[in-house]
Amino acid sequence: MAFQAPKGTYDVLPGSGFLAVRDGLLAPAELAGYSYIESPVFEDTELFARGVGASTDVVSKEMFTFTDRGDRSLTLRPEGTAGVVRAVLQHGLHHGQLPVKLRYAGPMFRAERPQAGRFRQFQQSGIEAIGLVDPALDAEVVALAWEGFRSLGLTGVRLLLTSLGDPTCRPAYREELTAFLTGLDLDEATRARVLINPLRVLDDKRESVQKQLAGAPLMPDRLCADCKAHHDAVIEGLQSLGVPFEPAPRLVRGLDYYMRTTFEFVHDGLGAQSAVGGGGRYDGLSEAIGGPHLPGIGWALGIERTLLALESEGITPPSEKGLDVYVVSLGVMAKAWAVTAVGAFRKAGVASDLAYGDRGLKGAMKAADRSGARWAVVVGDRDLEAGVAQLKDLRNGDQLAVPLAELTPTVLEKLA
Ligand code: HAM
Repeated sequence: MAFQAPKGTYDVLPGSGFLAVRDGLLAPAELAGYSYIESPVFEDTELFARGVGASTDVVSKEMFTFTDRGDRSLTLRPEGTAGVVRAVLQHGLHHGQLPVKLRYAGPMFRAERPQAGRFRQFQQSGIEAIGLVDPALDAEVVALAWEGFRSLGLTGVRLLLTSLGDPTCRPAYREELTAFLTGLDLDEATRARVLINPLRVLDDKRESVQKQLAGAPLMPDRLCADCKAHHDAVIEGLQSLGVPFEPAPRLVRGLDYYMRTTFEFVHDGLGAQSAVGGGGRYDGLSEAIGGPHLPGIGWALGIERTLLALESEGITPPSEKGLDVYVVSLGVMAKAWAVTAVGAFRKAGVASDLAYGDRGLKGAMKAADRSGARWAVVVGDRDLEAGVAQLKDLRNGDQLAVPLAELTPTVLEKLA
C-alpha cells in the first residue's frame, strides 16, 4: 500500500477554497494596518510552557516535542501568539509605533484525538495588536474577525464574549469559586481539576455537574473597577461597530495567558468542535516569557472549521482564478508557435496553458473544455501560414478568426 498522510493531518487539494478562506479572513485586518509576520513553526519548548501555561492540556498533553542534534528541546508550535510576541521582543518592534499590529497564517500542531474538525496539524489565520491597553482596540480586534467571517458570506457565526478579570480581581474570584466547587458532589478527577484550574470546571458539559453549577459565582460579577470599566467600554465599542455578541460568563479558553477581554466564535453547524475561532487579551504574556510588561490582544481563526462552516451554510468558497485561455495546436510548427503564444499571454497577464502531449484535435479540445478556460485558441500549421488563429468561446462555441498579431490584445479586450 502506498503511503497515507499521517493520522490527524490532511492534504489541501485543488479546488478546496483553502487560500480564499485563509486570506479572506485576514483581508479586513490588512485594511486596518495589520502587517504580515511569519515566525518559525518550531520554537523553544520553554516558550510554550511559560507562555501558554504548563498546566493547560495544550502544553501538558498535546505538544509535539523533540530534541534536536544539539540536545535542545524544541516544540512544533501549538498556537501562534507566543511565537509572535517572542518575535516582537526579539526584534524590538515594540520600540516603534504602538500598537504593533500583526497578522499571520500558518499551520499549528496539537497531538489531539482527531475527529471531524479536529486535526493534529491544522491551520489558523490570526492577528495580534501589541503594546496598548485601550478598549477601543479590543473592539477593533473582535470586529475584524467578525468582518472576516462576514466577508466569506457566513451568517451563522456567533460571538461569545466575557472578561476574565486581571491579577487584581481574579485571585479572589478564583478562591471564591474554588470554595464553592469544593462544597459540591464531584468525582475524583473533577476535584483534581478544581485545584489545577477551577474555571475549567465551569465548562464541564455533564448534566450532573451543570446542575450543581447553577449558583456558581461568575467572573463578570466579580470584576474590579478597572476591569469592569474596560469591559463596559469594549461592549459599547462593539455595539457602535454593529457587532452582535452574547455574554458568556462561563467561557473557558484552553490557554492560560488570557485576562480581561476574552472571546470565542462558534458555529452551530459544526457539531462538537463548534469553535471556529477564539482570542483575547494577554497583558501578562510578555512578562511570562521574560520580556517587559507589554499588553496585547488578538485572535486566531481555524481554517478547516471555517471551511466546514461554509459547507454547512451551502456556501462554496471562491476557488483560485482559473485559466483564461487554453491553446490547442495541430502540427509541429503550430506546436512551437503555441509555446511562444502562451508565453506572450502570460506576460500580458492572461492566465493560459496549452495542450501538452500528442492527443489529436479531439483529445486536445476535450482538454480545453476540462481546463475550465473561457477561450480556446486553436491553431494548425495551415492557420499559421495564413497568419490567423481561431478564437473559440468555450461557453457557447462561437468562433472567430483573429490575426496572430492581434491575438493578445483581442483576448485582453474581451477580458476587460
Ligand atoms: P485557540 O482557541 O486555541 O486559540 O485556537 C483558535 C482556533 O483554532 C480554534 O477556535 C479552532 O477553530 C482552531 N483549532 C484549534 N485547535 C484545532 C485543532 N486541533 N484542529 C482544528 N482546528 C483547531 C489560539 O490558538 C490563540 N493563539 C488565539 C489567540 C491569538 N489569542 C490571542 N491571540
